[in-house]
Amino acid sequence: MNLISHARKILAQNWKDGFTIPTSKLYPFQWHWDSGFVALGLAHHDLDRAMTEINSMFSGQWENGMLPHILFHSENEKTYFPNYNFWNSAVNPGAPEFPKSSGITQPPVFGFVLESLLDLYGAENEEVVNFVKNIFPKLLKYHEFLYTYRDAEEEGLFFIFHPWESGRDNSPLWDKPLGGIDLDNATLPDYTRRDTSLADASERPTQDQYDRYVYLLELGKKHRYDGPGIARESPFLVQDCMMNAILIRSNEALLNIASKLHLDAGKLPEWQSKSKANFSSKFWNEDLKFFVTYDQRNQQPILYREIGGIIPLFAGVATKVQAKYIADYLQNLHDRGFYLCPSFDVDSPLFDSKRYWRGPIWPQMNWMIYHGLKKYGYSELAEIVRTDLITLVEKLGFYEYFEAEKSKVTKLTKGYGGNNFSWTASSIIDFLNS
Ligand code: DGY
Repeated sequence: MNLISHARKILAQNWKDGFTIPTSKLYPFQWHWDSGFVALGLAHHDLDRAMTEINSMFSGQWENGMLPHILFHSENEKTYFPNYNFWNSAVNPGAPEFPKSSGITQPPVFGFVLESLLDLYGAENEEVVNFVKNIFPKLLKYHEFLYTYRDAEEEGLFFIFHPWESGRDNSPLWDKPLGGIDLDNATLPDYTRRDTSLADASERPTQDQYDRYVYLLELGKKHRYDGPGIARESPFLVQDCMMNAILIRSNEALLNIASKLHLDAGKLPEWQSKSKANFSSKFWNEDLKFFVTYDQRNQQPILYREIGGIIPLFAGVATKVQAKYIADYLQNLHDRGFYLCPSFDVDSPLFDSKRYWRGPIWPQMNWMIYHGLKKYGYSELAEIVRTDLITLVEKLGFYEYFEAEKSKVTKLTKGYGGNNFSWTASSIIDFLNS
């Protein structure tokens, strides 16, 4: 079977009557940013499903505009922790009764996903135009949520209070902010992890990290997941460079859509100017020559070269000089025998080439980085990012994430984490169509 057919088959298998699961057992529900990337891939061969996927996601939107990180469309799946009971989204009166959801969000990818649908089908396609017009105000409301509830200092740069919101759960970025949690004094509810019996424990976050994830979940719940008490009380309060870059990219997409389809973008131009004006001064680090994430609780940058720091290229918020430093960084990794793009600085003692977000390569990240590099004219490097992912999938299968060191890959027969993974399939479909 060729790669595209195989990828389509995976998306078909993971389709659950209205939405796509990332992978069976390990992630048996609808995940926010996974779903966005899935829609990108589906759009190439099944417009109906792509639109249904997006509609399903928005069926879980809260009245305050929040678009949750997980929607539990079914209450029969028992393989996932923390499930709907544990999250108890009902603590917030604006959370829909069905589908039940988590109480946190994830990278705001749907703006650029919606734009790609319109680009693919054209502003003459009535079905797509009507669909985009219907989703547009909902998406605007989601962005408004981020600016209203998550921007305590009114900088146009929103905060997260849980590593799961960043999508990069156990990145070394979070070690220190998570370390600020006093677990000794915390009474954690009893819980049993499911992930380590479904995937290799050495490829997953540690038990100590999970205890801290549960602590923050409980803190969010105490403040009905949107209260001002979160910004006051959470030991983990971070302005993530990647999420803010993605928001800016999605804002731009919404502005493009608004101008093409003559829609009212409300306060979006204002939000976007503020975010763009403050982005570089908050996130660029002149010593590392890299964009870094900011620990808002401790008022200090988190000084690591981490994959989220490459995403500002995708948002177009890097200067040419900044983009050059980042392109040189990637070129150097390529020259040293790494597949692109490792999720963490390979020269750091914290680099771990197989443990989730502490080193491995992630398909959807390659997708955003590819587009970022192209935007700044680094076409050859972008091509390496694209073909590296294709090569890894050809060699190791449609896994969730991959080994970065070429010398190690030659000895491996599979990737890491979950298999038959939806965003891997989607990224491949889109890459092979670009
Ligand atoms: C998990 O369960 O590992 C997810 O990444 C949380 O969203």
